[in-house]
Amino acid sequence: MTRKKIELSQLRSQRWFGAAGQPGNHKSYRTKQMGFTSEDFQGKPVIGILSTWSDLNSCHTHFPQRIEEVKRGIWQAGGFPVVMPTLSVGETYVRPSTLIYRNLLAMDAEEILRSHPIDGAVLLGGCDKTTPGLVMAAASMNIPAIFVPAGAMLRGHWRGQQMLGTGSSTWKALADFRAGKIDEASWRSFGEGTARSPGTCNTMGTASTMTSLVDVLGLTLPGASSIPAVDARHPQMASACGRRIVEMVWEDLRPRELVTRQSFLNAVVADMALSGSTNSLIHLVAMARRLGVELSLDDFAQAGEAVPVLCNLQPSGAFLMEDFYYAGGLLALLKRIESQLDLSCLSVNGRTLGENIAGAEVYNDDVIRPQANPVYAAGGLVVLRGNLAPRGAVLKRAAADPKLLQHTGPAVVFSNFKDLLARIDDPELAVTPDSVLVLQDSGPVGAPGMPEWGMLPIPRKLLEAGVRDMVRISDARMSGTSYGTCVLHVCPESRVGGLLGLVRDGDLITLDTAGRRLDLLVDDAELEARRKVWVAPPPHYERGFGSLHIEHVLQADEGCDLDFLARPGETPDPEARFS
Ligand code: FES
Repeated sequence: MTRKKIELSQLRSQRWFGAAGQPGNHKSYRTKQMGFTSEDFQGKPVIGILSTWSDLNSCHTHFPQRIEEVKRGIWQAGGFPVVMPTLSVGETYVRPSTLIYRNLLAMDAEEILRSHPIDGAVLLGGCDKTTPGLVMAAASMNIPAIFVPAGAMLRGHWRGQQMLGTGSSTWKALADFRAGKIDEASWRSFGEGTARSPGTCNTMGTASTMTSLVDVLGLTLPGASSIPAVDARHPQMASACGRRIVEMVWEDLRPRELVTRQSFLNAVVADMALSGSTNSLIHLVAMARRLGVELSLDDFAQAGEAVPVLCNLQPSGAFLMEDFYYAGGLLALLKRIESQLDLSCLSVNGRTLGENIAGAEVYNDDVIRPQANPVYAAGGLVVLRGNLAPRGAVLKRAAADPKLLQHTGPAVVFSNFKDLLARIDDPELAVTPDSVLVLQDSGPVGAPGMPEWGMLPIPRKLLEAGVRDMVRISDARMSGTSYGTCVLHVCPESRVGGLLGLVRDGDLITLDTAGRRLDLLVDDAELEARRKVWVAPPPHYERGFGSLHIEHVLQADEGCDLDFLARPGETPDPEARFS
């Protein structure tokens, strides 16, 4: 398609470099102070390379090299690359919850873009929260942006086993270790075998879900999310992103023009076919709101009934991200569900989704199943409502024990995570395989930040008896690599007065997946009496960013963004105020 072109004088960076007199001269000679010449930067778009690399983000180990490859592309296309480090948010290391820092990264990245002479951005992310965090920033800033997904790590490999998924296989091995079936040395060496190269988790966990969905939204080069981190095509993709972003700046192709409600509905449909992470509900809603797009849990509920799981990847299936790529990757999957997509949506390459998937093929029908032979007949995720979750909750039914999807059982309640850790393995705990484990005070405000505590551990005495799944309910999240009958994101959360906080030991709870309901079977008068004596625990933070988060975070159904970042409105461009 033919795109309008903008002139040099219209570049944002020209408000800094092109300014008359001392202000422009000052930027120029200070840039030369770094060893650049006029030929390097004058008359060129300035491209910010926003990197989430750090020594405490094991999934982004290869980013220093990728930055060089992105730079190469930018130079080739006539741009001026500048590297801007941002918050790294390595999922493995950050506490108490990376979700809190997704919002800080989004704020950090947005303000970096706003306050500097940057015309376009290349966003390097992949580890769970970095993808939505960077996209939320670019959406709010609304300058041309292209996302470089980190790519997944290689398959696990341990004692002859090759289908070992980070997280998914590890949780199973952990259950065996806690049940005394494997020793500690084996447990430790198993972990080393599951994470053996740069890149993000190799399952369809949160990282791969989010990079795939951002690919569907049109913010990566088409299919880029499926390329393994160490494949030679990954650095080739990185330099191609560098070349393309320069063109996008001249074409003035911005996120709000590219990404529409239809793009998000495509992402929701793909999410179901992927059996994506439950975290995607929160992140997609948050990203949509930054773009002024309405997206609600009802959109997920609708797609969940219409789209089968075709992607046979752990934790819902058997294979890993490397296999997905060899089977044709995301574009091949999208080809399989094209009748359920709006093919007119645009991508950063300037083409439509329909054009981008026209030549896609599936090379392995077991990894990317045909519609006639799905992994799961309905979407991987189901939205539940009921008196326990009037604003919704989510269950990854494709990764749950089918026998537990319709279940009524007595609650065993843990008032917070500390209480859970203290009592879950107590031999005296009154729990049976039919019990419903309930974790309170683990939501956006309560925990805070909804840590991934939602796959509550099975009590040791039941593990030893061979139990591997139970119904578990919380206002927390769970890792995208996790599995089990875990009802998550109960909204509103217990800390702000949700009914979850009033559940007591022995109360009957019904999970009715077929009816999309989650109900506490306690009469209203008793609940009212409990509410009268209920007192919210004191806040975890009295100052600092934690305090800001608690005071402003939205609930799960609204994406857990901070209210003042999610609301509509324009922020003035700093130098534009004077021109
Ligand atoms: Fe980084 Fe899983 S820990 S993607």
